[in-house]
Amino acid sequence: MVEEVQKLPSEIQKIKKEFFHRFLAEEFALLKDDRKIFDWAGKQCYIALANMLTTAAALGIDSCAIEGFNEEGANKVLNDVIDTTHFGVCVMVGFGYRDDDKNANRPKTRQSLEKIVQYV
Ligand SMILES: Cc1cc2nc3c(=O)[nH]c(=O)nc-3n(C[C@H](O)[C@H](O)[C@H](O)COP(=O)(O)O)c2cc1C
Repeated sequence: MVEEVQKLPSEIQKIKKEFFHRFLAEEFALLKDDRKIFDWAGKQCYIALANMLTTAAALGIDSCAIEGFNEEGANKVLNDVIDTTHFGVCVMVGFGYRDDDKNANRPKTRQSLEKIVQYV
């Protein structure tokens, strides 16, 4: 990334690489355990996912974030297109347009903001 995409000068690359290594090895101690690094990488996906959902909504496209899925089944399907021994699935998202049939859609139900957000 720092070399090929960001095309940073070599002295800045060195500083960034050291910074990221310290983060991975010490501050978040992710390198000790494959599960830990997979879970952290998965959480990183949610940053991109949040932007995808927000952008879709701004464009009038409906979406559905899905983490409740059959992992084995998903990996079987993806096995044809990615190396599933190296990559794992952490989240899925569907995009499309809602069915406007009012009889098919119950009204949205939401908890109050006060109940789910605590300001500190
Ligand atoms: C197959 C499927 C799996 C889902 N998995 C999750 C999940 O793991 N976690 C979650 O918070 N919501 C999950 N959802 C819920 C959706 O992300 C979404 O919040 C839900 O459809 C309600 O949206 P709405 O209240 O805006 O209509 C799932 C929905 C579907 C259809």
